[in-house]
Amino acid sequence: MMKVYLSVLLLSLGALVAEAQQKCTGSPRMYNGKPCASTTRYADSRKGACGCGPHDNDNQFPWNSYGLVAAANQNLFDPSGGKWCGPVCGKCFKLTTTGGFVGGHGGATAEGQSKIFMVTNDCPNEWPNLSWCNQQGLHSVNQYGYNVHFDLENGHNQITGMGWDNPEVTWEWANCDEGHGQDGRTPNYGMYKQCQCRHTNTK
Ligand SMILES: *[C@@H]1O[C@H](CO)[C@@H](O)[C@H](O)[C@H]1NC(C)=O
Repeated sequence: MMKVYLSVLLLSLGALVAEAQQKCTGSPRMYNGKPCASTTRYADSRKGACGCGPHDNDNQFPWNSYGLVAAANQNLFDPSGGKWCGPVCGKCFKLTTTGGFVGGHGGATAEGQSKIFMVTNDCPNEWPNLSWCNQQGLHSVNQYGYNVHFDLENGHNQITGMGWDNPEVTWEWANCDEGHGQDGRTPNYGMYKQCQCRHTNTK
């Protein structure tokens, strides 16, 4: 008898834990009054869709590979579908971890950590990026229910080094220079002027 109760208890605990993985709720998903996004990480030291660096080799242009930079989902990068010099290139956004994550695609990350990142790349709505980056309009969501996604550059373990394992986050636009002041790894606007797409951006 005891065994049966125990397994029922464990099963319900398991269900609770599974439900608690994602903390953002509603449509669009929100947490603490702020819009949510999903995140992943990638390692690609090439210049990306904002042309940050004249060379494809990160030794020639290190900050786009070492810094806190990200690829924004296609609909945020350029809603008209452009894959080069989207209007958000060189803009910065603040991510704050919710403590949640997408089950099977990440792990618990301590809640309330904020970092400022610069958009220097596009996560296109094409294979193999369809499951995270295929949002089509303001209210369209990816396979995991988020209308915004950021793929974070981890070429030098700058993301995993903070203990971030594809965390669910809230996001808001932020000032790059302020981010640079808080954490030297966020590129500032002066650094963005080195990018080929600098003329398309007006902060
Ligand atoms: C997007 O695709 C690239 C390969 O082209 C891969 O490296 C990256 O991890 C993918 N990101 C997402 C969020 O799907």
